[in-house]
Amino acid sequence: MTAPDELSRRRMLVKLGIVFNGIVGAIVAVPIVRYILSPVIREPKPGSESWLSLGPLGQFPEGQTRLATYRSPAANPSDGETANIPCWVRRVKGETFQVFAINCAHLGCPVRWFPQSGLFLCPCHGGVYYSDGSRASGPPERGLFEYRYKVERESLLIQPGELPTPGAPTARLINISPGKTPCV
Ligand code: FES
Repeated sequence: MTAPDELSRRRMLVKLGIVFNGIVGAIVAVPIVRYILSPVIREPKPGSESWLSLGPLGQFPEGQTRLATYRSPAANPSDGETANIPCWVRRVKGETFQVFAINCAHLGCPVRWFPQSGLFLCPCHGGVYYSDGSRASGPPERGLFEYRYKVERESLLIQPGELPTPGAPTARLINISPGKTPCV
């Protein structure tokens, strides 16, 4: 026979175990739930909604793809050169552009533009993209990420936002020049 004292001690231990497991479960679950919901609940970083100039339109000849840089809106004075972020600008025609993130859509290595072959090549694992940023071959599962852009006072502006990643594809093609229909 089990003594009543021992029974109630056992019950209390079981209850304590349930409470303890609940606390540990909550501690483990919170970051996982936050990670899963992060695309929905993430707040824009300071400066991510602002427009930055990549330079006058004359720097980007029609039919060509040129390297441009912008200063990260989240940069600190101590960041130096590391806050200068390169991107590829393709001027399709007139005020129609594509501004590509320089990072490969596979694991983020910087891609290079080869005008001779009309391809972007990634040096890390051989990812290849066509001139319009779409995937040609290799490990990337999608095309290059694109920034929103607009043309204002003869300058090309982009909305850098956050650096695009597969989990947060914030950069998309969108031309919001006056009189243009946005295309996302
Ligand atoms: Fe570009 Fe892997 S990082 S192919």
